Amino acid sequence: MTKLAIIGGSGFTRMESLEITRREVVSTPYGEPSSPLIHGIFEGIEIVFLPRHGAGHTIPPHKVNYRANIWALKHINVDYVVGMATVGGIRDDMTPGAIAIPDQIIDYTWGRGHTFFELDLAQVTHIDFTEPYCSELRDALINAADSAGLDIIKNGTYGATQGPRLETAMEIKRLQNDGCDIVGMTGMPEAALARELGLCYAHCSVVANRAAGKGDGPITMDEIETNMRNGMASVYALLQELGKILCC
Ligand code: HPA
Repeated sequence: MTKLAIIGGSGFTRMESLEITRREVVSTPYGEPSSPLIHGIFEGIEIVFLPRHGAGHTIPPHKVNYRANIWALKHINVDYVVGMATVGGIRDDMTPGAIAIPDQIIDYTWGRGHTFFELDLAQVTHIDFTEPYCSELRDALINAADSAGLDIIKNGTYGATQGPRLETAMEIKRLQNDGCDIVGMTGMPEAALARELGLCYAHCSVVANRAAGKGDGPITMDEIETNMRNGMASVYALLQELGKILCC
């Protein structure tokens, strides 16, 4: 049985060295997931991969059907879900190329399908979200990084913004005052939906740029994509070790 799912973000719409075994189309009460679920073997370990922005990277952050994605993964009995995404770095040590495993979230998104408790209101549940990420999976990611010899950042508050535009310098200042260390557009409602369905979810953030007003000049897509590509070797090394920890 597949236990580990990876939701890939920008620059991670397919997994190199994933031996694809099948593609599974899952229909959900919430509509279509971003793509068929891609089952395969990664470095000897069975996983399922889901490109968050679609196979052709055509779905922007505010249009991702987060509910369908998480529902589909629950439906096929996945236990662990790693959300991968690029982020902007706010804290001084969050520099391009850094990998962070955040431990907190502040949600600034709006108008997204953010809960499963909408169809059957007899079952409304107020999930505990004090610690928004699954500690077992966070620990596994941190141990995997140690085994892979990667010097990652083991905490941080993820500020989830609406996008698709990047932030203003003053918005980033506000996020920093609020306590955010990194900023991204897709971390919510994904994490909360996973908790609602009882999935063990954690985030692996790859810093692609200094957040608005924190670097020199404007942020370019070229910069984001180049830093993401440069970080991929580390991401693969980490995932390889993670698979060993979770599956064996
Ligand atoms: N802001 C929001 N999302 C992002 C950024 C950013 O600076 N970089 C990569 N994803």
